[in-house]
Amino acid sequence: MSTLAIRDGTPARTKPLPAWPEYDEREEQALLAVLRSRHWSSAPGYYRDDPTASQVYHLEREFAVYHGVKRGIAVGSGTDALHVAYRAAGVGLGDEVIVPCLTFIATASPILQLGAIPIFVDVDAESRCISPDAVEAAITDRTRLIVPMHAGGYPADMDRLNDIAHRHGIPIVADAAHAHGSEWRGKKLPAWAAISAFSLQQEKQVTPGEGGMILTDDDHLADLAYIYHNDGRGLGPDGGKFVEMGWNYRMSEFQAAIARIQLSRLDALIERKSANVARLSAALEALGGGVRFPRSDPRVTRQNYLYPSLRYEPEKMQGIPADIFAAALSAEGVPCGARAPMPLYKHPVFAERRFGPPGRAARMRHPAQEVDYTRISCPVAESLGGRVLGMPQEVLLGDDETMSQVIAAFEKVLTHLDELAAVGIGR
Ligand SMILES: Cc1ncc(COP(=O)(O)O)c(C=O)c1O
Repeated sequence: MSTLAIRDGTPARTKPLPAWPEYDEREEQALLAVLRSRHWSSAPGYYRDDPTASQVYHLEREFAVYHGVKRGIAVGSGTDALHVAYRAAGVGLGDEVIVPCLTFIATASPILQLGAIPIFVDVDAESRCISPDAVEAAITDRTRLIVPMHAGGYPADMDRLNDIAHRHGIPIVADAAHAHGSEWRGKKLPAWAAISAFSLQQEKQVTPGEGGMILTDDDHLADLAYIYHNDGRGLGPDGGKFVEMGWNYRMSEFQAAIARIQLSRLDALIERKSANVARLSAALEALGGGVRFPRSDPRVTRQNYLYPSLRYEPEKMQGIPADIFAAALSAEGVPCGARAPMPLYKHPVFAERRFGPPGRAARMRHPAQEVDYTRISCPVAESLGGRVLGMPQEVLLGDDETMSQVIAAFEKVLTHLDELAAVGIGR
């Protein structure tokens, strides 16, 4: 094949990748219908006579049914969902909450907001989800919750985590921000946690741009979550009283109307991505396996490939650094990055313990200030730099012809490693 595009050859992919998010006239009509209905807010007061007139009402039920649990509470973002979920699960001042060190800030920041202490633990090298061994080693008599995050839509080991949770009597609240439609042993992920908190932000598999969803099978936790997300108003006849300290984290009717249609597309979306992953994965294996999809646990019966992540083994790649491979692949028309994942404890907010109360109260200490986050070390997470490639999900959304071009781009770079090694040296 011809010269690498990174050396001014012709890129392998010429067909455009599909755009994300996807929508059609159904979303357009749904938006207009909400506009014309003048039901823009989901505040329960507007729907006393007919709760079913609310899009949020329907979305909550449809999202819960789809994921195999009883109750859903729609909120403004995944961050809101985690904040409410932690509060409903009883996280309070000085509690410890075990979270993976490789995750988005919102897994940890609501813990700080509740005056509690994020305890970061290491991840599994293949799945990049929380390591059950590390969870067990971190449990103390102050541990209130275990929080797995299903990284990129790949489930954490829910068997081992549930075993640990039951033995120690500590509930699991999952950060399911990425996990729409993914399954562990044939069941959607909310079946494996007391509460699961989803994000509906623009990149996620069901999205109205921003949004979140709390799912649980537990009526008591669902009622608490409902109260907290609705400014602390009581339920039913107590709707006019503020019975708790809460927040207005309600989702708008516009968001819910779009999310309902997006949810109806989810199965087809996951099928398309899974078929494309199967093709690409087989091709990569035939090309030597230096670049590959993570090994999948047979108990993972479905994953949504939200953030396609590949493992890169420089030893099988003539020692070519991952960032050079990523640059070559991107030049061929398959966007790819090799940014080293940075454990949360290394970010300034933790390393410098920037979570004391502001203003005059600054003399007060936040309970998490007792932890010196600069002394934490998670060797597996820290060893992933240069061994992980990330791609936007658009790479997996194309039709057969686009996917053939994506595969041709990988093939071209992987069969031109001598040429690429020379690029690396001249860099
Ligand atoms: C792992 C994880 N948790 C929580 C969130 C927060 O979701 P949101 O951006 O909807 O607040 C995100 C957002 O991307 C995330 O990736």
